[in-house]
Amino acid sequence: MVAIHRRPSWAIAESLATPEAAYLNRRSLLQAMGIGALSAAGLAGAARSARAEDADPTADLYPAKKNDAYTLDRPLTPEEINAHYNNFYEYGTQKDVAEAAQQLVIRPWEIAIDGLVEQPMTLAFDDLVRKIPLESRLYRHRCVEAWSMTIPWAGFPLKALVAMAKPLGSAKFVRFETFLDPSMAPGQNSFLYPWPYVEGVTIEEAANDLAFIATGAYDKPIAKQHGAPLRLHLPWKYGFKSIKSIRRISFVEERPVGLWEAIQPSEYGFWANVNPEVPHPRWSQATERVLHTGERVPTLLFNGYADQVAGLYAGMDSASLYM
Ligand code: MTE
Repeated sequence: MVAIHRRPSWAIAESLATPEAAYLNRRSLLQAMGIGALSAAGLAGAARSARAEDADPTADLYPAKKNDAYTLDRPLTPEEINAHYNNFYEYGTQKDVAEAAQQLVIRPWEIAIDGLVEQPMTLAFDDLVRKIPLESRLYRHRCVEAWSMTIPWAGFPLKALVAMAKPLGSAKFVRFETFLDPSMAPGQNSFLYPWPYVEGVTIEEAANDLAFIATGAYDKPIAKQHGAPLRLHLPWKYGFKSIKSIRRISFVEERPVGLWEAIQPSEYGFWANVNPEVPHPRWSQATERVLHTGERVPTLLFNGYADQVAGLYAGMDSASLYM
């Protein structure tokens, strides 16, 4: 993406399969130190941080009940491929950010819901995720860079969160903001990007059943490189609209300007609805490369979700809708 376009890297990062070994090592280290060597408070602290790092407190929520309304016409992207080909600029501008993204600290994680709502609130992620029933859905995921994946998400429809927030009548848009903490996201030291990552949708788009808050994938809590502990997924739009690691959700009157739109509005607009007939200024969007097969397939209007979302844009000026 962006003006300084580099070739995607296919270099697969080293295996991420270390957490269990690391967990066992820390445990045996604690045992070897001997309980007497640690104060009660120190021991409790060590146990807490071991738990925070090793056992996700929401693991019991997965697998979530399958929603059969959202199935696919093509096989799922294997988890290993999906987990090692990501866009997460907070951790680098190449696709092999999985390892670097492990620096993301996801506990404690609070989400602010504010702006034009009846009662602004701040909730712990672990409380929010138990307030709304989770379900799993198979979604297509189409990046503006013309590659695609198919992902088994788990989470809840964004509209359930909107209902919980009780927006005022004056709220026209929902604005999403990621964390801002260069100490755990080295990419945020780069002055080339207006951090933090921001995205937005209209209140009508947020109320569409397809708009999804993903808290899990592949039948477990969502991996850090995918935007733990919660990210948006709008499958009818190019992937850059689907902001990762959300910290703040604001109901606003003015149209939010996303990070990519702020940098390059002629290439990454607000609507960003998938349309094979409207090329990106620097490449065609007519086809896409299915990531796990390498096959090129035709891209579909609204990424194949026209039945669910075309009505949102009826009567609107079509030129800007696909930018
Ligand atoms: N969210 C944040 N916070 N930072 C990012 O760099 N990249 C976006 C989107 N959300 C991005 C983000 C882009 S360009 C895409 S295509 C998708 O995340 C990629 O999601 P994935 O890595 O889970 O496939």
